[in-house]
This record gives sequence, C-alpha cells and structure tokens, in this order.
Amino acid sequence: MPKPRAKASEPWTPESWKTRLEAHQVVYDDRDAVQRAVNKLQALPPLVTSWEIERLRSHIAEAQAGKRFLLQGGDCAETLADCQPDIIANKLKILLQMSLVLVHGIKKPVIRVGRFAGQYAKPRSSPMEKGKGPDGADVELPSYFGDLVNKAEFSADARRANPDNMVAGYQHAAMTINFIRSLVDGGFADLHHPEYWNLGFLEHADLPDALRDDYRKMTTELAEALKFMEALGETGIDELTRTEFFCSHEGLNLLYESAQTRRVPRRAGYFDLTTHLPWIGERTRQLEGAHVEFFRGVRNPVGVKVGPNADPGEVVQLVETLNPDDESGKMILINRFGATHVAEALPPVIEAIKASGRTVLWVCDPMHGNGVTTDGGVKTRNFDAILQEVEENLKAHRAAGTVLGGVHFELTGDDVTECVGGAAGVREQDLCLNYQTPCDPRLNYQQSLELALRLAGWMSEDRK
Ligand code: PEP
Ligand code: CO
Repeated sequence: MPKPRAKASEPWTPESWKTRLEAHQVVYDDRDAVQRAVNKLQALPPLVTSWEIERLRSHIAEAQAGKRFLLQGGDCAETLADCQPDIIANKLKILLQMSLVLVHGIKKPVIRVGRFAGQYAKPRSSPMEKGKGPDGADVELPSYFGDLVNKAEFSADARRANPDNMVAGYQHAAMTINFIRSLVDGGFADLHHPEYWNLGFLEHADLPDALRDDYRKMTTELAEALKFMEALGETGIDELTRTEFFCSHEGLNLLYESAQTRRVPRRAGYFDLTTHLPWIGERTRQLEGAHVEFFRGVRNPVGVKVGPNADPGEVVQLVETLNPDDESGKMILINRFGATHVAEALPPVIEAIKASGRTVLWVCDPMHGNGVTTDGGVKTRNFDAILQEVEENLKAHRAAGTVLGGVHFELTGDDVTECVGGAAGVREQDLCLNYQTPCDPRLNYQQSLELALRLAGWMSEDRK
C-alpha cells in the first residue's frame, strides 16, 4: 500500500521517513522479528561517535573551500565473510598508500574514508533474479540485497530477507571498526619503507616510455619524501601513518540507520551512529522519498550519488532539501555519469549549483557509470574509462572555476581480476583468474595505486 506523503514542512524525527515512499524497501515476512532486531540495535552502543562525525564535517568544510581532498574507496558490497584481518588490513593499506601519493602530488591533506564497516546493503536494478533451482529447473528468487538483508547464495532460504542479518551486520561492522582503529593507532610499519610498496609491476608493465618515466619519477620522489619524513622522527612518518580514517556506507536500509540514530549529551541534533559518512544512492535519491527525508535530519555529512538522468534543477532541490541552511561540511555531490556522458552532463550541474550559491563538495565516482558486460557475461569496468571520467571531471571544474574535491572508487587491496586494463595488464580473458566480488567489479591493488599516481600527476599539473 502506498504510504501518505508527509509535507516538507513537517518536523523531522528519526522515524519521519516512514511516512514517505521508500524506494528499494526491504520486504520482511516477520514483523515481530523486525521489531526485535530494531530494539536490539537501539540498545547497543554506537559504532562511531558524534565528535568523530563533527570532526569529519569540519574536514569536509575545508575540502569544500579547496583546502583538503577526499579519498573514498572500498568494496561495492562488503560481506560478513570479508571480516578477516588480511582483507581489512590490505584495504586500509591501499587507501593509505593512495592517500600518500595524493598528498605528495596535490600538497593538500587527504581525508581518508573507507567504504567499509557497514557497506552491507545493496540496491539492485531488479528485485528478482532468474536462475536454476537445486533440481535444475528455472526459478525466480529475490535478488541479493547485501549481507545486511539476505545472502548471495541462490536458494530460497538464503534469499529470504532476514532481520537478524541487521544485528549480524552491526556486529561485523563493530569488529571491523575495532580492528581498523587498532591498525590506525599502531601505524603500518611497512609503509615506512616504500620498497615494500609492490611497485615493481610499473617497471615491467607494457607502458609508453613517457608514462613509465613519470611513474618512476613520482615514486622515487615519494620514496625520498617518506625517507625524509622518517628522518624527522617524531613529527615525521609515524604521524603521517598513524592517522585518521573514517568509514562510510550507502544508507540504504533505513531500519538499520534509524535504530542507531540518537541525540548525544551536550551536542545539538541527531547523529546516525552506524557510520561517519552515509550516502544516498542513485536509485534512492527521490526528492520526496524516504531516504532524503531521513538524511536531511542528521548531523552527519551526507553524500548523494548523481547519475546521467539527473536534471540540474532537481540536483539543486536535493541539495536545498538535505541542507536547507546551507551549512558547510554537510553536502557531498558524487557524480557518476560515465566516461562518455560526463563532459556533457557535469557542466550544467556545476552551473546550476553555482547559480544557487549552495556549498557542496564535488566528488567524482568514475566507477558506476562505466560498467560493461563482456561477451562471456562477466561484469567488468575498463581502467581507461575510469581514468577518462576522472580527467573529464578535472577539465569541467577547471573550465567552471570550481574544484574537484574528491574521488570515490570501488577497490580492494588484494590482487583480484575484476576490472580490465592498467599497467597491471588485466585482460578480458584474465577476469576468471581471481574474480571475487559479489556485486560490482573493483580495482585491484596495482590498478588503485596507478590511478592515484595518474590523479596526483594531473592535479600537480593544475597547481603549476
Ligand atoms: C554503489 O556505490 O555501490 C552504488 C550502487 O552506486 P550508485 O548508487 O551510484 O549506483
Ligand atoms: Co557498486
């Protein structure tokens, strides 16, 4: 049954989203079990704190003023099974290494945000999926909506939305965050030594000479800079690696988000304490919808994904609704137009926001507009298309006099073969070698590092 629509002027509460139509609403068959899970989540301690969220807001406000740069990256769909020390440490390591490359190239502090510790809920283009049952017959089952909702395995039992998964998701997010905090506290010993950076692939790759020389120059300079900082002792590399990380996820399952949304002593407003930086996905950003209603009321900074169908006027309205007082540090616009659309689609959005006078952080997600399926039916993305979309973003901002304030990638610190191209030399026929993602294809360690080098190179050119 469609729900009645609340008026925009009606007061916000952590539950007011329930009066709005919810895109991608999870359908549970046991309401009592849902209530039990929500009660449990309400009683459990927060995963992040209000002061961390306020600190991130102040960093984002500085990024909006061009003084910092946001690096956001991680899995498309994090799984509960990914809650393992090596997987988490490798993800943190690649993000940290990319951020050091960027700091070195753009000479600005980088805000490091992982898509982790809760990136467990996934929107899907179709609610149902066709496949083969255990007896080989054709069956149709609900799609996999992420481990917060159901399981990836293609069986009726696994695909049933189970409210207990919200509690399991919370618990795994807590374990992940706990490990991240300890790693960040202790620093990563091997990052003191760039020789441990696994950069050898750049030397052996089939690259144009000029590009290889550029990479060599940048990595040598970076190694020197790291050694220099290490020589400084106390204030040097330890400070740089014992550093802040924030976490983020798509705020898709509003039952989960609202159960951990609270007031805290001596601070104004409500905080969504499941994560520092939630974002609203391309499929759930309807102006009158439940997700926009929910996220307009929390103190957290909020990202909104904007795809090729977005009308510039509608993007302005979204920004006005989510941040009516135009507070700095709140709004992040993450565009994901696709390499072939961005040059045409981004400038009108930039101009509309400029004309509105609103404060946003401009972030480029070069992943979600560049999905392709191979003839063999494998979902992949091409490294060159990803690079092209980032470069087009830089061009558009240069032309408009605005600043690209951050990037948003799907990546992993492991040697997966999910995206094609790059110096890593992953070819279409290699995709089957180590294809792990349950959802969208991610950049591997080498592709991620190369992307950071390219971006740092372009952005340091901009400074000249
Ligand atoms: C995602 O970030 O994994 C995602 C689904 O993105 P979008 O909402 O932009 O399609
Ligand atoms: Co994705």
